[in-house]
Amino acid sequence: MEKQRVCVTGAGGFLASWVVQYLLSKGYIVHGTVRDPSDEKYAHLKNLENAAENLQLVKADLLDYNSLCAAIAGCTGVFHVASPVPSGSVPNPQVDLIEPAVTGTCNVLKACTEAKIKRVVVVSSVAAIIMNPNWPEGQLMDESCWSDKEFCKTNEHFYCLSKTEAESKAWEYAKKNGLDVVTVCPSIIIGPMLQSTMNASSLFLVKFMKDGIEEMANNQRGIVDVRDVAEAILLAYEKPEAEGRYICSAYRVRMQDIIDQLKPMYPNYNYPKKVKEGEDQPNLSCEKLQKLGWKYITLEESLVDSVKSYQEKGILD
Ligand SMILES: NC(=O)c1ccc[n+]([C@@H]2O[C@H](COP(=O)([O-])OP(=O)(O)OC[C@H]3O[C@@H](n4cnc5c(N)ncnc54)[C@H](OP(=O)(O)O)[C@@H]3O)[C@@H](O)[C@H]2O)c1
Repeated sequence: MEKQRVCVTGAGGFLASWVVQYLLSKGYIVHGTVRDPSDEKYAHLKNLENAAENLQLVKADLLDYNSLCAAIAGCTGVFHVASPVPSGSVPNPQVDLIEPAVTGTCNVLKACTEAKIKRVVVVSSVAAIIMNPNWPEGQLMDESCWSDKEFCKTNEHFYCLSKTEAESKAWEYAKKNGLDVVTVCPSIIIGPMLQSTMNASSLFLVKFMKDGIEEMANNQRGIVDVRDVAEAILLAYEKPEAEGRYICSAYRVRMQDIIDQLKPMYPNYNYPKKVKEGEDQPNLSCEKLQKLGWKYITLEESLVDSVKSYQEKGILD
């Protein structure tokens, strides 16, 4: 059988690297877009199993429509993973976040129509779901929930705004143009890093173990392992019955729960010294994704593999 050719945007990123690895291991031919193919930070991709024969790194920027058309040409499916994920505030949210996320998604989808792509999986986020100040406390959120854009703007939650705007534009485009789009909305992603450079959500866990934070809010958050998100993305692509949005969140934990799991296993790190009262995030249902066949590993396994990966890379030294 002829191997299927697919494109992954932002192939060198934390999540996309795992998506590329799974696709290659399943025999797909992958066009991975990167901004500068000569950059050493993408070396890990070239070392993946089957990469020598089946991975092509293609130079593309989300704001350069023609570069995306060239990367997507000849493919059957597209995984749109690239989007800026900052680890703090950014100097110019419109330029640094909103434009690459929103215009970038529109450009990718237009290029998909042009190339007659059969299905596009767009990686969104729970950031496009949970930011709703009027949501009744304690009530479960599902895929029908959307973040309130005005609330995001007013409260300067620009990353949430970028993901909400990008995903809503994706749905508008899909409906208007009859493109088969499926979106996956992960919560905070942890897990082993394939790439050599640090990404924002891995930094979240590293700082937790390294910085000796004086006082940390005991916030409750949804968390999921990067390998489980990559599996969810493949399910969303491969299952013909997949449609609409999929929340992808495995564990709902407080910061104190993470400390309690890590400390006995790795006592010699510099954990937060004190926790203060934090806020709750709405509880998210991943039932729809589970019905598609999604399963996830335990939080302990995810934490152990994350720490092992940081130790191997010398990040915790
Ligand atoms: N990590 C999380 O906790 C989390 C949770 C929910 C959803 N997500 C979503 O998952 C996706 C991947 O996130 P990640 O955690 O893997 O982040 P990451 O490692 O920072 O990867 C982001 C990728 O986006 C690319 N990118 C950014 N701006 C671009 C532009 N203008 N043109 C081309 N590529 C651009 C980056 O390319 P370069 O390599 O060239 O910089 C990088 O490959 C994003 O859509 C994010 O919103 C992440």
